[in-house]
This record gives sequence, C-alpha cells and structure tokens, in this order.
Amino acid sequence: MSNKKTVVTQEQIAHQYEYMQFIAKMTGEKAQAYGHPLRAFTQTFGCQQNEADTQQIAGMLEEMGYEPVDRAEDADVIVINTCAIREHAESRALGNVGALSHLKKARPDVTICLCGCMVQQEHIPEKIKKSYPQVDLVFGTHALWRFPELLYRSLTGDKRIFDTTGDAAGYIAEGLPVLRDGGTKAWLSIMYGCNNFCTYCIVPYVRGRERSRASADIVKELEALIADGYKDITLLGQNVNSYGKDLDEQIDFSDLLEKLNAVPGTFLLRFMTSHPKDASHKLFDTMARCDKVAKQLHLPFQSGSDTILRRMNRGYTAEHYRELITYARSKMPDITLSSDIIVGFPGETEQDFEQTRQLVAEIGFDMLFTFLYSKRSGTPAAKMEDDTPHEVKQARFERLLKTQDECVQVRQDAYAGKHVRVLVDGHSKGKEYPLTARTEGGLLVCCAGNNLEIGNFAEVVIEKTSLRCLFGRSV
Ligand code: SAH
Ligand code: SF4
Ligand code: F3S
Repeated sequence: MSNKKTVVTQEQIAHQYEYMQFIAKMTGEKAQAYGHPLRAFTQTFGCQQNEADTQQIAGMLEEMGYEPVDRAEDADVIVINTCAIREHAESRALGNVGALSHLKKARPDVTICLCGCMVQQEHIPEKIKKSYPQVDLVFGTHALWRFPELLYRSLTGDKRIFDTTGDAAGYIAEGLPVLRDGGTKAWLSIMYGCNNFCTYCIVPYVRGRERSRASADIVKELEALIADGYKDITLLGQNVNSYGKDLDEQIDFSDLLEKLNAVPGTFLLRFMTSHPKDASHKLFDTMARCDKVAKQLHLPFQSGSDTILRRMNRGYTAEHYRELITYARSKMPDITLSSDIIVGFPGETEQDFEQTRQLVAEIGFDMLFTFLYSKRSGTPAAKMEDDTPHEVKQARFERLLKTQDECVQVRQDAYAGKHVRVLVDGHSKGKEYPLTARTEGGLLVCCAGNNLEIGNFAEVVIEKTSLRCLFGRSV
C-alpha cells in the first residue's frame, strides 16, 4: 500500500468509455426488442460527497443507455450507494437491499449493485456474500471509476463480482460523465479522502487518503456548471482547508476560492467541510473579500470539552474554536454558522456535555447537526470504555436540541423586517408563500410577490419567521 494517490490515466478512462459503448450496444438491442429503453434506479445514503458520486454513476449509466427511474421495481439495474458513518446508515441500506430479494426472485435478470463507503469496510463483503445473495455486484469507493468495466463483467458472466480492494491512498479520475438533476444547485468535488483519523470516524478507512484535484480541472468544471445554468455551487471535501497540500502546484484552499471567484457569471460558491484545526484567518479574509463566496461557514466542533476533543484526536481546543468564530464574525458580521456535534462520545461526563451545550448557547448557530455517538468497528474509539447508559445519552441529546431551538428562534426572529438577497430555487407547499429560496447563508425562505423566478436572484423583505423557515415578499 503506497501513500501516494494514483492519478487514473486518460487511456484508462478511454478504456472505461469503451465498456460504456459495449453496454450501450447491448442495451440498445434490448430496447429495440422491448420497445422502451432499459432503466436504472439509484439510491444514495450519506453525505454530499456520496450524492456527487451517485451523479457520476448516473452519468455512466446514461452513457450506457439506461434511463433513470424513480422506483427500483421498474429498473433493470439498481445501484445502492451506501454510507458507513453511523450504524443507522448501514442498517437502512442493508434493510433496503434485503427488501430487494423478492424483486430478484421475480426478475432474476435485474442487476443489483451495492457500492460506496459501507462496502469498503473489511468485514462487509463477507457479510454480503453470505446473507445477501440477491446482490450481483459490490464495488468500493476506490473502484468507482471502473464501474462500466465491472458492470460489463457482471452482465456478461454468471459470477457475483466483489471489488472492494484498491490502493487505500486512493484515486483521482477525471473525465467521467456526470448526470446532475438540473435546477440551481450543484456539487463540485475539489478533493477526496481524509487524513485526520478522528478516533470515532470511519471515513479515512473507507475513503482513503486526502487527494486534491488539479485547480485547472476544478475551474473547467465550474465554468461548465455556470454554462449549464447552475448558480448555487458547493465545493466538496472532507476537510477543504487541506486542499492543495498534495499537489505540485503552489495553491491552498483560499487561493482556489480566489480563482473560482474570478470565473465570470452570477453565482454563489459554498464549501464544506472545514476543520477547525486547519481553518485560517487567511480563509476568512478571502471569504470576506470574494463577492461570489457565500458568507456561510460549516465548521464542526464536535464537543465543547477539551478532554473529549483530545480523545477524539481533533487537534484544537474549545478556546481556539471560539477565537476562529470571533475572527470570522469580525470580518463577516452577517455570516451564517453551522456545526456538527457528537453527543455521548465514550467517557463523556455530565460536565463535558455541559461544556458542549454552553458553547452552542454562546455562539448561536443558525443550523446544527447533532448526532448520537455510534461505535464504528476498526476505529480507536470503538475500544474506549463507554459506561454512559443509552438513556442518559438520549436525554443529553434532547437537552442540546432544546438549547439549539431556542438559539435558532432568536436568530430567525432577528431577520424580521430585514431585506435579504435570495436565490429562488423551487416551489413550496404553502399557498401564501408559493416559492422556496435560499439566503446567501443558506437559510430557507418561503417567498411571494412579483418578479420572482426560479433560478434567479431576488431581494425580499422578511415578513414573518418560524423555527425552520423565513417568509419573505419581493421588493
Ligand atoms: N469531515 C467532516 C465530517 C464528515 S462526517 C468533518 O470533519 O467535519 C459528518 C459528521 O458525522 C461529523 O462531523 C460527526 O459529527 C458525525 N460523525 C462521524 N462519525 C460519527 C460516529 N461514529 N458517531 C456519530 N457521529 C459521527
Ligand atoms: Fe472523519 Fe475527522 Fe476526517 Fe471529518 S476530519 S471525515 S470527522 S476523520
Ligand atoms: Fe459520506 Fe457516509 Fe462515506 S458520511 S464519506 S457517505 S461514510
């Protein structure tokens, strides 16, 4: 196992396109016989990164002649892209795969594929082999770019295929097709993998080492997105502040933001996730200066207790986190802040938890993603002593949500009467405010009024607020 990423050559990519053409020929012939195109169903668990991966899988499937469908029952190929971050994500994916056994019995010709983070774990392929015979093809995150070849082998042979090996340092593959869902929002991966090994987290084991895409490739993709009409673009990476460290070109994440900000067009750039250990003043200065960079920061702090942060291997203290937020707010007073928190990490005491809750109350986040600790086998935290009963953890979790709701209400109310710039992005369920939009900071606004058009920016005045939504009218 090397520590150096593998850049997939254009020749290898061309080879995958050949497999896509072989399959397109097969599906074309079948479509003639059936009188309709063959169909593919994809389902995604987990984070935005996984959604972006599924869009690549969907792009390859389209190239191979499959039409996307909304129901697994209607599909000839089913791809379930899994997540391993918490037990719940795994059991949901496995539950769905389990439910497909009837479909496979009724229609043995359907091809069921399982991919993504869950299957990249060492113990999973064996489990699928034994208990989920309906699955035809299993491929891990490192094999994503070889999906056409693997599917071809699956369609033309009779054996089940398992490909979850691959170099843990990871791959960079450019030039594969992507099928996005239209609309205003698009994901744009700038890097893959993670080097941080937070003690609770499975991601470094299933996604390989940190590796960045060349900035020219990112600029090219952004230009294509703008040309396609996308206006709300989120740059993705597990720790975007490490961007560029592995590249030959001299560039860091702030430099990349500057470069992307200079791309012509009317659009907003967001990014996630930032790690407090690597978020720098330079980053906040750059955000403040770049007009197309949304004043929005997702900066997970996980715990307000330094003892727990140390045991999590996070590499910063609560005080450092406070300092970062103070600096960011001094440069961007209206910045929207969000964070991730884990409640019930092994050994978390009442006092540790209170420090987390107090930090939440003190900072006043606009959004918070709160998780109960879930033991992941193979991670260092899985071996740590954990004697807090589940009910205690659950009660802490609920107390934290209550604190957060109180903060959000205050922050939402503060918007009443304000004028805000929004990007209109869809239809709402309500009649009074029939459209949905997002503020630059990513807050949901239901809006009404003249001159509002999906896909356009507009200025609205906030007429009322609720915990989850602002209500605005165009001015
Ligand atoms: N790279 C990002 C996070 C990716 S995972 C970062 O470092 O911020 C998203 C969130 O899931 C994490 O921030 C953490 O809060 C949560 N998480 C990760 N592993 C978990 C586990 N074992 N149990 C509960 N929550 C977990
Ligand atoms: Fe997991 Fe930590 Fe990497 Fe985030 S930074 S993906 S929490 S190991
Ligand atoms: Fe994302 Fe889940 Fe993998 S959160 S990186 S899909 S383990």
